[in-house]
Amino acid sequence: MLTTIIYRSHICDNVSVKSLEEMVAGANQINSRANVTGILLFNGTHFFQLLEGPEENVMEIYRHICRDQRHYNVVELLYDYAPARRFGKAGMELFDLRQSEKEEVLQVVLDKGTSKYQLTYNDRALQFFRTFVEATEKENYFEIPAGDAWEFVPDDEVVQLGAPLKSTSTEYSFAFQPIIDPLTREIASVEALLRTPDGGGPQAYFAGMQGDEVYLADLHSKKVAFAMAGGLNLHEQALSVNLLPMTLVKIPEAVDVLLAGIATSGLVPEQIIVEFTEGEVISGFDAFTGAVRQLKAAGISVAIDHFGAGFAGLQLLTQFQPDRIKINRELIKDVHTSGPRQAVIQAIIKCCHSLEIAVSAVGVEKAEEWMWLESAGISQFQGHLFARPAFDQIPQVAWPEKKADL
Ligand SMILES: Cc1cc2nc3c(=O)[nH]c(=O)nc-3n(C[C@H](O)[C@H](O)[C@H](O)COP(=O)(O)O)c2cc1C
Repeated sequence: MLTTIIYRSHICDNVSVKSLEEMVAGANQINSRANVTGILLFNGTHFFQLLEGPEENVMEIYRHICRDQRHYNVVELLYDYAPARRFGKAGMELFDLRQSEKEEVLQVVLDKGTSKYQLTYNDRALQFFRTFVEATEKENYFEIPAGDAWEFVPDDEVVQLGAPLKSTSTEYSFAFQPIIDPLTREIASVEALLRTPDGGGPQAYFAGMQGDEVYLADLHSKKVAFAMAGGLNLHEQALSVNLLPMTLVKIPEAVDVLLAGIATSGLVPEQIIVEFTEGEVISGFDAFTGAVRQLKAAGISVAIDHFGAGFAGLQLLTQFQPDRIKINRELIKDVHTSGPRQAVIQAIIKCCHSLEIAVSAVGVEKAEEWMWLESAGISQFQGHLFARPAFDQIPQVAWPEKKADL
């Protein structure tokens, strides 16, 4: 199927324009053989390229391009299908934007177009060309250094936050994972994650239960989490626990039980963040908002976990504004290479900023993901890059340290 990929990237310092011309000559031959068109724009700093042709061939060439050491921060902007080529002639052509006026360049590129309709109507590919030539999106290009620009150095101090803790339940325990601000080197909060003895999550634990048993077990487990967290030397740090929204609905005295557990463990309600997952909130929304009112009245903060993974997305925020949202791993994965993910995350950040909702990113595994998200304005992170959940204790945090030669 005729496939189009558009990406942008940043040229490496050591690449001369002369060597680019040689690269284009070689690429022209490869593209022609593969029946692929490559229209390449260059503005002195950034490349912008449209590749179109048979899907397999476009993908293969794009894979090579992504690995090319002459550029970095390759961000895929568009992956789409079309009925006909926009640029009929297979091969490769370079347009240096510095050599002509913006309008002229765009016209020269459009004149290369061979599809009667594609370039005339509101074609997304054409809009991307226009945006790049006019440089209207430039403030959203976050130039991040290579992933190995930072080292992640485990910190012994964190372990002293608490001695190993013991669960009061024989059926489950809690693993603890910090949510950190990597640049100020602070642990903002610690999340208690329910684990069965063989490492299963809450779903595995609740699986065999019937009816309201699930909600009673959910509520009871929070008392265990509070008791264990009471043994940690939490100071300014908050404690996050997960709760099923229906637990608050089905058990009328649930908030009182939570407050009693918090007090017995030497914690204060203002220190507690209750996290709900987006999908669960939506399925019983009215009952949920009623129950949340009680939590807020008691001083407990509310977060929406796995934001972006449910069905509601931004619409949820028109109905209910939590204190914090945690952006889901699915959105964060390889955000540094994906234009659509970047656009969606930026929209979430902007929206939350307007509503004074704090945003954190969950499931961060790669240094590049973290660097991009920091550049976009997120400062709190949770993920294996910094610390894996640790059974019955707070794990060491691997703090980022910039390598000396950078
Ligand atoms: C900005 C940029 C655009 C490129 N465009 C193409 C292209 O359209 N087609 C192509 O075959 N190679 C292109 N290349 C070169 C490839 O990355 C790669 O060098 C080439 O496919 C040869 O593959 P190899 O170096 O793995 O042997 C481009 C490189 C850069 C830096």
